[in-house]
Amino acid sequence: MTKILRLELKDHSYPIYVGKDILSHIGEYLLQKLKPSKVLVVSDESIVQLYTPIVTGSLVEQGLDVYSIDIPSGEESKSLEQFSRIQDSLIEKQFDRSSIVIALGGGVVGDLTGFAAAVYMRGIPFVQIPTTLQAQVDASVGGKTAINHQKGKNLIGAFHQPKLVLIDVNTLESLPKPDIRAGLIEVIKMGVIRDEPLFQLVEETLDGIIDLDERVLIEMISQACAGKADIVAKDEKESSLRMVLNYGHTFGHALEAVTEYKKYRHGEAVSIGMNCAARLAANLKIFSESDFQRQNRLLRDAKLPVTFPQEHSHEEIYAAMYHDKKVIDGSLRLILPIEIGNVVIRDDIPETKVKEAIIQCY
Ligand code: GLY
Repeated sequence: MTKILRLELKDHSYPIYVGKDILSHIGEYLLQKLKPSKVLVVSDESIVQLYTPIVTGSLVEQGLDVYSIDIPSGEESKSLEQFSRIQDSLIEKQFDRSSIVIALGGGVVGDLTGFAAAVYMRGIPFVQIPTTLQAQVDASVGGKTAINHQKGKNLIGAFHQPKLVLIDVNTLESLPKPDIRAGLIEVIKMGVIRDEPLFQLVEETLDGIIDLDERVLIEMISQACAGKADIVAKDEKESSLRMVLNYGHTFGHALEAVTEYKKYRHGEAVSIGMNCAARLAANLKIFSESDFQRQNRLLRDAKLPVTFPQEHSHEEIYAAMYHDKKVIDGSLRLILPIEIGNVVIRDDIPETKVKEAIIQCY
């Protein structure tokens, strides 16, 4: 039942496996593709007891020299301090370019570990084993790695593609339901930006997704990863097409910033951002009112938030949008839907129109 996809990037193409019971066979999957001398498994405190022994056990069974390190859970760990801890460990254990680093966890572990692997000895191989839905359908695929700076998220990073992505849907069983719902936003996003059948699949199988029906999850995650892989294959460094993955994110990042990254999960902020971007597109009459309602209905059915909090004014949110990385030469670049399954990139939307859409989303 395992699905195998491939991200085609010339000499750094890689497979993405999506299935169940993968974790306990990691050693076998790894050796099919890589012949590492040493392996470092990086995970976070919330999952270290759950999954690290399974993964390291499977690697040891294959005769590999295995080490592990865990970081505190949460966004604060995308820091220079945790980055240095990983570098110290790699140096101390004498890792070299034939060694590999495994990121076992959610987006924070993946981004931090990927960046550590990108920089150590000018780049050593790494493998993504994402354990959250958000990381499985988005962050683990595509090679974006980074840590945060106090002035902003992901400001220090590199494109460094993994050698392999291994997605085991059974890991979702340990997640709280709000995390599943927040991760689902990236699938709904993929549906809106380029894949109406995927959007429809989420509409039709929402209960199965939330109840973690393995068959439904494998189908949905592999379709979302196929979409992401196709976009990254065409525009690895985000010079054009890959920007569409930021649908809802300019509004969402602004909301995360004004609420100091404490009130919303990333996916919840993006959900509000997608509602606002869709409202704006409908106001501009490039997106039909019925498609706007269809997206809004699915977000609400998935129990995702769609309205801005009263405590933060539209002026404050608008100002925060200008601190996003996606602002180019002072103009706000927005991804706007024109139908479910298709978007456009626009940098000519008047300030009044953007503010009007924010006001309508309270
Ligand atoms: N998460 C957006 C991207 O990978 O481009």
